[in-house]
Amino acid sequence: MSRRERGDPVIELATSLRALSPRRQALVLEMWPGIEGETPDGLRFSARTKKELRRLRRTIDGEMLDWMRGFDPDEVFYDIGANVGAISLAAAALHGERIRIVAIEPSFASFESLARNFSVNDLLGLAIPLQVALLDRTGLEPMNYQGTTSAGGALHAVGQPVDHEGREFTPVAVQMVPTYTLDDLIEVLKLPAPTRVKIDIDGYEQPVLKGAVRTLEAGTVRELAVEVVDHDRAGTRLRSITGFLDRCGYDAVRTFEHAVDGYVSDHLFRRRQWASEMRVPDLVAIASAETGNARQPDALDRLPYGAAQRDARAVRKAQHATAKLEAKNASQADRIARLRTERDKLLSELAELRGSYQFSGAGKRLDLRELQGFSEIARAVMSEGRTGMNYDRLYVLWQAAQGAPPELPVVEVGAYQGGSAKFISEAFRHAGHSPRFYVCDTFVGHPRTDLAVDGEHHAMGKFGDTTVEGVAGYLGNGRNIELIVGDIVETSAKLAHEPLFGFVHIDVDVYAATHFCLSLFTPRLAPQAVIVVDDYGVVTCPGVQKAVDEFIAVSPGLRLFHLHSGQAILFRVS
Ligand SMILES: C[S@@+](CC[C@H](N)C(=O)[O-])C[C@H]1O[C@@H](n2cnc3c(N)ncnc32)[C@H](O)[C@@H]1O
Repeated sequence: MSRRERGDPVIELATSLRALSPRRQALVLEMWPGIEGETPDGLRFSARTKKELRRLRRTIDGEMLDWMRGFDPDEVFYDIGANVGAISLAAAALHGERIRIVAIEPSFASFESLARNFSVNDLLGLAIPLQVALLDRTGLEPMNYQGTTSAGGALHAVGQPVDHEGREFTPVAVQMVPTYTLDDLIEVLKLPAPTRVKIDIDGYEQPVLKGAVRTLEAGTVRELAVEVVDHDRAGTRLRSITGFLDRCGYDAVRTFEHAVDGYVSDHLFRRRQWASEMRVPDLVAIASAETGNARQPDALDRLPYGAAQRDARAVRKAQHATAKLEAKNASQADRIARLRTERDKLLSELAELRGSYQFSGAGKRLDLRELQGFSEIARAVMSEGRTGMNYDRLYVLWQAAQGAPPELPVVEVGAYQGGSAKFISEAFRHAGHSPRFYVCDTFVGHPRTDLAVDGEHHAMGKFGDTTVEGVAGYLGNGRNIELIVGDIVETSAKLAHEPLFGFVHIDVDVYAATHFCLSLFTPRLAPQAVIVVDDYGVVTCPGVQKAVDEFIAVSPGLRLFHLHSGQAILFRVS
C-alpha cells in the first residue's frame, strides 16, 4: 500500500501545499522557519531536514562536552567540519563572548543551516562561519556530494571522490569550492590563531593536518580533537596521524570513544611544550609574531562581532528594561492619581463631617470601647451577630442595668434573636445581680403593623428568622430567665403577678406594641427604674416616636429623654 493510499498526513499536506499558487507556496515557506526546538544544551534550533533535526537534537558526546567546558577565556576555537554547527553552537552556549569561534563547513546546505542556527540564537556575531574546504593545497576543488546535498549530510569528499574508508564513490552532485590549507586560510583571511581545534572531516584528516604545519608548530594550539576513521580496522590511519602530530610537538593523550561500530573515535592531542602557566593571550601574541599575522586587527575584530552586535544586544536589553520601567511608572502614576482622588474625597468628607453636628466634639468624647467591663461584654455580644445594636445603644442599656434597683424583675419586649437580652442579662450579672428576667417576643416576627403609621420598613412577619429554642439555648435558659412567647398584647397576663419592675426595655419597632407596652409597664415602674425605648427618633421607626410622644403627652408624671443614640429614656418624676 502506498503512503498516498494510506492517507499519509505528510503527503496530504504536501499535496495541498502544491495546490496553492507558487506565490502562496513561497509565502508559506517564508512564514514557516522550519522545525523549531531546543538542543540538549538549551539552545534554540531550526531544522528543515530529518538529518539536520537529528544532528541538532543529538546530545553531544559527554567527553567532548567536558573538553569544550575546559576552554579558557579568550581562546580561539576552530571547528573544522562544522556540519550544521551543533558543536560550535554548544561551545558558544558554554562560553558566549568569552571565546571566539571559527566554524568551517564547505557543504552549501549544512553551511546554511549552521549560519541559520547561529542567527536563531543571536550568536552569529560570535563566530566566523566560513563556507570553504580545508585540504593540503589552496585553490578551487570539486566537492563530491555523497548520497544527498541536503543539510546534515556527511561523508562528502573534497578533491577525489573517495569515501572515509578509502573507497571510490559516484557523487550525487559536484560543486567547486574554495579550498585552503589551514595555514593559508589564516594568513590570507587574517584569522586569529587557533588555540583549540576540532577536526571531523570523514577521512580527510591527514591532508588537512598537512596543510596546518605552520599553525601547529607556531605553538598557539594547545589541543586538537581529531576524529579518526579506522578504515582498515588496523589503526593505520591513527598511527600515521599520531606520528605526524608527534613531529609537530603533540602527544596523544586521550581517546573519546564513539558509539558507532567502535572504529570511529575522537583522539585528543596536547602540545608538549604547553606552558600551562602561560595565558592564552600571550600565546596568541607569540603566535601572531611567529606567523607574521598581526594580532590587531584580525578578521574577528572587523566583524560586527564585538562592538556592534554586543552593543545591539545591550541596546535591546536596555530598551526592554526601559519599556518595563516605563510601564511600571505608568501604573504607579495611575495608582498615585487614584489614591490622590480618594484622599481628596475623604478630606472633603472629613471637612463636611467636622462641620456637621454629629461629628462636632467627637474627638473629645469618651471612647466606649475602652470602658472596662462594658466593652468586653458588648464586644462579645456584638460579635455573636444576634443584635444590630452598637456600643452607643448598649451603653445606655448598661447604665440602666447598673443603676436599677436590685432584685426587682426586669423585662424586655422585642427580643428577636436574643442579642440585647443576652447583653442585659450579662450587664446585671456584672453588677452582681440576678433579677428575674422576662424576655418577650412572638419569635415569629411582627404580629401586627400598620403601614400608615409604621411605614414600609415594617411588614408583618419581619424578624421571623428566629426560634424560641434557639434563643432559649443562646440565653442559657438559666433559672432567672423566662421566655414569654407570643404577641405581648395577648401574653401580658403572664406578667400580671409582678407588681414592680426594676428595668424595662421596649424594642418592638412599631406603634401598637410600643404604646401597649408603655401602658402596661409605666404604672409598674419602680422608683429609680427606667424604661428604655429603642428606635425613638429613628426615621425607619416613625410609629415608635408617635407612640412615646402620645403617651408622654397624657402622662404628666413621666419624664422623657431623647438620646442621640436613637433611644428614649422614660422615668417617673412624680
Ligand atoms: C428589632 S427586633 C428586636 C431586636 C432585639 N432587641 C435585639 O436588638 O437583639 C423587634 C422585635 O419585636 C418583636 N415584636 C414586634 N411586635 C411584637 C409584639 N406585639 N409582641 C411581641 N413581640 C413583638 C418582633 O417579633 C421582633 O423580634
